Amino acid sequence: MESKKTISLLLFLTFLFHLNTHSAASKLPTEALPTKSGYLSVNSTTGSAIFYAFYEAQFNNHTCLSQTPLVIWLQGGPGCSSMTGNLYGIGPWRVTHSIKETVNYLELQSNPGSWNRIFGLLFLDNPIGTGFSIASTPEEIPTDQEAVARHLFTAIRKFIALDPLFKSRPIYIAGESYAGKYVPSIGYYILKINPLLPLSKRVNLRGLAIGNGLTDPENQVGTHALQSYCLGLINDKQKTELEKLQLEAIQLTKAGYWSDATDARNNVFSFLQNAAGLASSFDFRTDHLYESYLVEEFLRSPEVKKALGVNEYMVFERCSKVVSAALHSDVMKSVRFKVEYLVENTKLLMFQGQCDLRDGVVSVESWIRKMKWEGLQKFLDVERDVWYVNGVHAGYVQKSDNLSNVAVNGAGHSVSADQAVNSQAMIEDWILDRGLFANKQIQNPFVDL
Ligand SMILES: *[C@@H]1O[C@H](CO)[C@@H](O)[C@H](O)[C@H]1NC(C)=O
Ligand SMILES: *[C@@H]1O[C@H](CO)[C@@H](O)[C@H](O)[C@H]1NC(C)=O
Ligand SMILES: *[C@@H]1O[C@H](CO)[C@@H](O)[C@H](O)[C@H]1NC(C)=O
Repeated sequence: MESKKTISLLLFLTFLFHLNTHSAASKLPTEALPTKSGYLSVNSTTGSAIFYAFYEAQFNNHTCLSQTPLVIWLQGGPGCSSMTGNLYGIGPWRVTHSIKETVNYLELQSNPGSWNRIFGLLFLDNPIGTGFSIASTPEEIPTDQEAVARHLFTAIRKFIALDPLFKSRPIYIAGESYAGKYVPSIGYYILKINPLLPLSKRVNLRGLAIGNGLTDPENQVGTHALQSYCLGLINDKQKTELEKLQLEAIQLTKAGYWSDATDARNNVFSFLQNAAGLASSFDFRTDHLYESYLVEEFLRSPEVKKALGVNEYMVFERCSKVVSAALHSDVMKSVRFKVEYLVENTKLLMFQGQCDLRDGVVSVESWIRKMKWEGLQKFLDVERDVWYVNGVHAGYVQKSDNLSNVAVNGAGHSVSADQAVNSQAMIEDWILDRGLFANKQIQNPFVDL
């Protein structure tokens, strides 16, 4: 027990699943407060705004702060709050459920795998209407990736303007799952608009990272039957049935029936979950269920909301159905062309937990190999390295030029929730070009040995 680092708490839960029992003591201790949090307006006329929580690097000094990388995190969904990634993934504190004496508490524990060890870390509830973000009207919620990127760009610029030290800091944008579409979209938007702006208004983007991402759905949706069959989760007959469902999703996508195509993809997962008897498709290991509902419990506490600068009448939802509905027709639209542009102009990290059945290793490889990129053949031919963290086998790294792709052992849909420390080693090495992410010198094979 890490009792020293455990802050007891916070949220007193009489009934764990009963959402209206927050009257009891519940607060965000000073040491767990973000460095800054609040709202970044994206439309001053309507008042719509993106909620943010920022944690400065734990190890920093003012001499180098202006060069300390900033990592921006975007959750997926569509419509899921980045506060899940914060409090159940890469943030400095993690909400956990623990039983003390005879009552249930939620506790915040310090996260040894936090991504803000040596980088600043910014969480944005994106798009508006998600988490604590404000959408003045449902009509204003983006229905496509261009609108998402426009709002994000405004929010990021506003954030940078909060502190003169932010301006020069290298920015990395990361996210998981449906952020496999947000991350390339905001990256593309930034790289296209930067040259049109004066230097002082540019966003200093240095790289993009996508965990278990949905990026090129038409290719990805075709991989589930084979993957699940090879894992022994379904038999040959079920594989054939699943393939039929996949084909339906692919055909509807090709025909541009976007909303139906999204439904067809959902049918693929329903069938698979049912056939394999799984509680979710986030992880095929049946004893690995994410307890991210704890984040929702925690953030519904009035005192926690007050500490974060959020109106106490706002009801926090981990995932917004309204936002999900707004982007329903966007789900199957590919952003692969954006990735193709990005990989020629900045560095890109893709990583997948091996146990994910949604957007895992096979799913992501299926579209990587179809990219139009001059470096692709070299990437496909390069040796895949076995990756160790602290001497323990952590997964595999394949890197060539600007593209790195990592398979993470012992992780499902959310790598950081499952392998926090390894995910920290990965992001630090990738951003700093170290270890397996170093730019390899071309070695003369005759000189080696
Ligand atoms: C703000 O919202 C209004 C109403 O939806 C819209 O007409 C206007 O274009 C928006 N402004 C910006 C800067 O997005
Ligand atoms: C602060 O960081 C700079 C740059 O990395 C380093 O040279 C300096 O020694 C550091 N100062 C302190 C007090 O740690
Ligand atoms: C990698 O990105 C750099 C810009 O950072 C670019 O100059 C280079 O051409 C890219 N390499 C490939 C193979 O696309």
